[in-house]
Amino acid sequence: MHKDFEEDAVDAATRVLNSNWTGRHTVPATGLYPHQWSWDSAFVAIGNRHREPGRARAELVTLLDAQWPDGRVPQIVYDVGRDDDYAPGAGFWGAATSGLVQPPVHAWAAWLVHCADLAGSAREGFLARVYPRLARWHEYLHGLRAGGAGLPVTKHPWETGTDNSPLWDAALERVPPRSRTPVRRPDLRHAGTGERPGSRDYRRYYRLAETYRDAGCADDVPVGFAMVCPLFSTLLAVSEIALARMAEALSDGGGDARADVHEATAARVVAAMDEHLWDDDLGQYVALDDTTGQRVRRATVNGLVPLLLAGGPEPAGTSAARSGRTSGTTTGAGALLGPGRAERLLATLAGPGFLGGGPNLPSTSREDPAFDPALYWRGPAWFNMSWLLLRAVQTLGRDDLAARLREHFAVAEPEIFPEYTDPDTGTGRGTRQFSWTAALTLDVLLSTDECILPTPAPPSA
Ligand code: SER
Repeated sequence: MHKDFEEDAVDAATRVLNSNWTGRHTVPATGLYPHQWSWDSAFVAIGNRHREPGRARAELVTLLDAQWPDGRVPQIVYDVGRDDDYAPGAGFWGAATSGLVQPPVHAWAAWLVHCADLAGSAREGFLARVYPRLARWHEYLHGLRAGGAGLPVTKHPWETGTDNSPLWDAALERVPPRSRTPVRRPDLRHAGTGERPGSRDYRRYYRLAETYRDAGCADDVPVGFAMVCPLFSTLLAVSEIALARMAEALSDGGGDARADVHEATAARVVAAMDEHLWDDDLGQYVALDDTTGQRVRRATVNGLVPLLLAGGPEPAGTSAARSGRTSGTTTGAGALLGPGRAERLLATLAGPGFLGGGPNLPSTSREDPAFDPALYWRGPAWFNMSWLLLRAVQTLGRDDLAARLREHFAVAEPEIFPEYTDPDTGTGRGTRQFSWTAALTLDVLLSTDECILPTPAPPSA
């Protein structure tokens, strides 16, 4: 990218993050999403670590302050003053937070935030504050949320972060499109109807949320939707490895028993994904319906994200290296994906459904019958997905694919940091001045270390 463009984009992205910062957390967008969202905050912290590491730490601590006693980290922490501006709000849940969750990218984010400013992190005791809470968050997912395949289930499309992905269509068909709570759509004031989930989707979203809420958000009561997602499971495995690195850093070089436990848990998650979520015909991972035991054979970006677990050059001195578990040039998470899987995923990523069919990475394959370049998770290119795949292919040394994925970030600033873009034209869609678009653009422009997985232990502070 051109130098002037880069400077303009850094300044403009910084302005977006400054104006969306409330003093304790960053709103994803002032109009459409006026509260704190769980996985948005993790992506925002990843971007803010470069220039505002204190703010990045505060972002994550604020979110973890809202953790439930059972360990769940809520999807949304409400700003009660803005309950009319987003629905369903705190009034719907009868609580200060949503009872749902979102993909567990937090421990990975916390580790990157720590490594970006070791002195500031040590001064605030950041790792000691967040590690136990993040470990309990993962225990909740491995425990109360464990599905039949041993992978965490999501109880609502909102929990997947990819609300109207075709992965959830068949399961949602079984949910009656009726709720007692009237459906409110303040979101449509901020994005076109052709860019947001439809009213039939929303009636089902409300029905599911209402059923879960009325069961006290208890996880042993079936709500009619229990889906295992390859994106969610991958982020859990990556974050589990981040917990291992944190455990080592906290143990002052002493025994790393907890690190071994986290590494083993990550390995178990990836092995279960390999066994239950791989689709050999599509050449990618897919979702699993925990109610029927059936795989959902739809090609989406969710099923490419496991490339993050495909390995890369081995950083010296990692626990994997010390334990002698690996030899050669790949390690850690990378040693865990089944043989040949990375090559198949790369071919699918480069193929006609994804990067081979147009300039940017669509959220749903161009070859899927549901593909729509404007409609939320059914086609548009999302910056967090471009970022995840960019980090994966950089770790694998695939500069050709990395260059293609970086191109998406070149449209971020000219399109006013849109929530998502048309994957063929690059035109902005959804809301604008969207925080994770700005944050991940900053991360792409400011990162000096492209290989962030697996993360080496930092030098002692
Ligand atoms: N993605 C949801 C929405 O559109 C919130 O998590 O409102």
